[in-house]
Amino acid sequence: MFDLCIYLTLQADEEESPSSKPIVIKAKGKVADLVALCDEEMEGLQINEDVTVDCHAGIAHTRWATHGPPCAKNSHPHVSSSNHEFVLVHNGTITNYRALKEFLIKEGEEFMTETDTEVIPKLCNFLYSKLPEPIPFPQLVCEVVKQLEGAYALLIKSSVYPGELVACRRGSPLILGVKYGIHAEQAPKSPVSPNTPLTPKLTGSSASAPHSTGDPNKVETQGLELFLASEASAVVEHTKQVIYLEDNDIVHMRDGEYTVYNWSDIDSASVEVRRTAQTLTMEVSQIMKGGYDYYMQKEIFEQADTIAQTMQGRIKATPMSPIKFGVPNVDRLLYPRVRLGGLVDYVSTIRRSRRIIFIACGTSYHAALCSRQTVEELTQMPVVLELAGDILDRRCPIFRDDTCIFVSQSGETADTMRAMEYAIERGALCVGITNTVGSAIARKSTCGIHINAGAEIGVASTKAYTSQIVAITMMAIVLASDQISKRKRTDEIVDSLLELPDNIRQCLLLDEKIKKLAENLRDENSLLVFGRGRNYATAVEAALKVKEVSYMHSEGINAGEMKHGPLALVDEHMPIIVVATMDEMHNKMQGVIQQLMARNARLIIVCNEEDIDMEDMIGARYPLIKVPKGDGALQPVLNIIPLQLLSYHLTLLRGFNVDQPRNLAKSVTVTEE
Ligand code: AGP
Repeated sequence: MFDLCIYLTLQADEEESPSSKPIVIKAKGKVADLVALCDEEMEGLQINEDVTVDCHAGIAHTRWATHGPPCAKNSHPHVSSSNHEFVLVHNGTITNYRALKEFLIKEGEEFMTETDTEVIPKLCNFLYSKLPEPIPFPQLVCEVVKQLEGAYALLIKSSVYPGELVACRRGSPLILGVKYGIHAEQAPKSPVSPNTPLTPKLTGSSASAPHSTGDPNKVETQGLELFLASEASAVVEHTKQVIYLEDNDIVHMRDGEYTVYNWSDIDSASVEVRRTAQTLTMEVSQIMKGGYDYYMQKEIFEQADTIAQTMQGRIKATPMSPIKFGVPNVDRLLYPRVRLGGLVDYVSTIRRSRRIIFIACGTSYHAALCSRQTVEELTQMPVVLELAGDILDRRCPIFRDDTCIFVSQSGETADTMRAMEYAIERGALCVGITNTVGSAIARKSTCGIHINAGAEIGVASTKAYTSQIVAITMMAIVLASDQISKRKRTDEIVDSLLELPDNIRQCLLLDEKIKKLAENLRDENSLLVFGRGRNYATAVEAALKVKEVSYMHSEGINAGEMKHGPLALVDEHMPIIVVATMDEMHNKMQGVIQQLMARNARLIIVCNEEDIDMEDMIGARYPLIKVPKGDGALQPVLNIIPLQLLSYHLTLLRGFNVDQPRNLAKSVTVTEE
């Protein structure tokens, strides 16, 4: 049983039956379970699905359980009462819900769920009931959200405002996808203005035939469809025109048209605003499995290409010979070898800053951990790493002459976003490294780098990790481009970057071997991964991959810390992966292996193909995972690939869902209270 809860509201033909109450159907489990339940319930209610209605809006939500266990009762939509006057879905966390709940209970409201969300529909109804005269739906919602603290993206329907839908956001992502129906080519192209009549009043459903209004100036856009979602991959199969809504935006949909308002914290006034639609560059194929069984598998196997995409147009691949071109100035032809368009105007500001602070969560944090040494080595600047949640917990000092670099695949991780707001308030330069064009972090940062790895759907981050390392490494090279003394070193790294796609292909050939290794490990309870230097990041990232999808306890350990405690775990049973490739840490890692062998440890060693010494030292005693050799700065990109494959195979062998591990979401858009 999966513990996501799925909910749906349906509303019958609202024009014909304005007072009809929204139908709410909830189920625990997979979307398919909900679909089956809907079919059943609709049959029971004798709703004819084939009837065409003029205007219709439904809302649905897969819940992230912040308050109360995942079950149908706690699932969204939440309702104001059994009369369903207000029905809504919510992404986010309401931090002052206890106070609101207490107040509403005193006012006679009864709560049915353990969620924070339930206060919102009840508050809608409470405020509505106190109105001397009705006010427009968006105005009511504005009054409600002013009472809320925390983060929210809300979709609200109401039986007292039939045929209307209001959506609003603050702190949680929300996008509006716009799809024109028939004669779409005549519809206004981006920018789409909500103030421009998008369509004459709808007179048919999206499936109905075109009709002529007789007015040549009017665009026939029957079947305008509007999609509200928390991220672009959810709507790309329907439309590529999306509006990224801003904090305090309120979207009002009515009679097939929409208007966007924004209310200000300062004077609480709400004004109509123009929001520009952007065209998604994402392709539908990116959200398909493309012949693979799972997204995680596809994303691991895509990495030779995604790394190439991250570098595309940014690296001078073939240094031109000055002799051939008869130009004596080698520098002008060869350098800089890396160019990052999103950073050009800020390179000198970053160089002048007091320190660089990387801020991220999970795998993105590990990418920064892996690349920190390269940034330090090439820039000679102090580089600090911070977990986004921790920086907020500590109220860590950040200054206006700091450069804060926010690394996030989704660009929507709530902790990272909050940390960015914190850094912005303190005047630091905020750089975003994300994989999601239009995401909150991409929009709020002053400058940044898109890693261009393509949509990552599997909850376990794989291709984003390797592309993030490459992006940060390229950034370090750009920051060092004014230092002649670093040129030899940056040349070595650039050359190794260019070899990465081929080397990754070699790593992927290990798939069968890794599958066999996974068969040996499938019944273990625990797995340790030892690494040192940059490969400490490989160790913690491999351990995260193993634990998050295969549910096997796994720990990444800095091998330099081995004697300070972890050695006590070592015996002939505990499987230990040791990352010992031929980089700066090679000698030290050989020492670690010797010590572990002396304790009869059960080792699996990640090493380079050309490491003859390792072969001599180990013989046939332990399995060796041999990867191609790259520059030390990039070796972790190659080392992690067999370990990603290991977590993938372990998960399948242990019978779990690699793409949707329990209790986890792809984008963590909620923070702890
Ligand atoms: C990694 O496999 C995770 N699912 C998770 O740690 C993730 O990296 C983290 O939540 C940060 O996400 P972001 O990169 O989208 O900010």
